[in-house]
Amino acid sequence: MEKVLIIYFSGMGNTKLLANMAKDEFLAKGYDTKVVDVCSDEVVEINDYNYLVVAYPIYAFNAPGPIISYIKKFNKINNDLKCLILKDSGEYLFWNNASSLQLTSILKRKGIKIFSEYHYLLPYSFVFRHTDYMAYKMLYTLKYLLPLDIDDFLGGKYHKLDRFFLDRPFSFVFRIQRFGGRLNGRFYKVDQEKCIKCNKCINNCPANNIKIKDDKFIFGGKCLMCQRCVVNCPHTAIKAGFFKRWMVGGAYSFRETTEFEVEKKPKYCAKSYKKYFEESVKRGNKIV
Ligand SMILES: Cc1cc2nc3c(=O)[nH]c(=O)nc-3n(C[C@H](O)[C@H](O)[C@H](O)COP(=O)(O)O)c2cc1C
Ligand code: SF4
Ligand code: SF4
Repeated sequence: MEKVLIIYFSGMGNTKLLANMAKDEFLAKGYDTKVVDVCSDEVVEINDYNYLVVAYPIYAFNAPGPIISYIKKFNKINNDLKCLILKDSGEYLFWNNASSLQLTSILKRKGIKIFSEYHYLLPYSFVFRHTDYMAYKMLYTLKYLLPLDIDDFLGGKYHKLDRFFLDRPFSFVFRIQRFGGRLNGRFYKVDQEKCIKCNKCINNCPANNIKIKDDKFIFGGKCLMCQRCVVNCPHTAIKAGFFKRWMVGGAYSFRETTEFEVEKKPKYCAKSYKKYFEESVKRGNKIV
């Protein structure tokens, strides 16, 4: 039986959802499929697999640091492994196409020659909160597109995203977010009056960056800015340093709704959202 390895990084949980949806799809098609969170200590032998799926959220027009570090540890590939990149983000902008350049360079150095990549919209974990209507519409569309894209990939119909002039230096410059995130992370604060000491933030931080000393929260210098602690705090007690205005205020429920709601910033990236949904309709999506 052919084997599929899906590796993912996820902050708030969107990409974890995407990775598990991909897993269900491959399993349903009869592939032996394994999913690995790159923040776990699990070591994999990449040469044991026929297919590699890399799923990540776009952070500042790049792939997050942990996915890059994980791939760097792979052995050189000695078979004809095929790679599918599934990325998600809050904006369907072509600038985001640059986000896989560093990743694909490393994979190529490891010996992977065949790539296919897709970009899906999922609600913002940062910047502003999408409405429940938009969050559901995005999930509904992903559920429609993903099986089609996986079918194409397995059938050898590889999909590339458009490149643009100076995309490499563009994504390189924005990698400063990794440094900025570590710096900003030191300024995260917990509102002690709201905090119920559940330790959820401490136990779930992918960078192990949160500690308690003398009853005080200490945020170290390893923050990925992933927003997991902020979004999942049951009492929204954590403020995201200098970016507190960009917090989305709690996890999305993805509740099923067809009741239209106006977005908080209706004009923001409106053209790109329209384009994404129109393209999905052309492929047969019956939009909610
Ligand atoms: C630090 C940070 C930077 C982000 N940068 C971008 C970006 O450059 N472009 C974009 O479209 N979305 C950006 N987003 C939004 C996320 O890509 C999007 O919400 C994604 O679905 C989150 O997935 P996750 O829950 O798996 O982390 C950013 C989110 C965070 C937390
Ligand atoms: S998740 Fe929120 S409530 Fe729980 S310990 Fe952390 S800050 Fe306090
Ligand atoms: S401290 Fe930073 S890395 Fe840890 S969960 Fe919070 S945002 Fe993510």
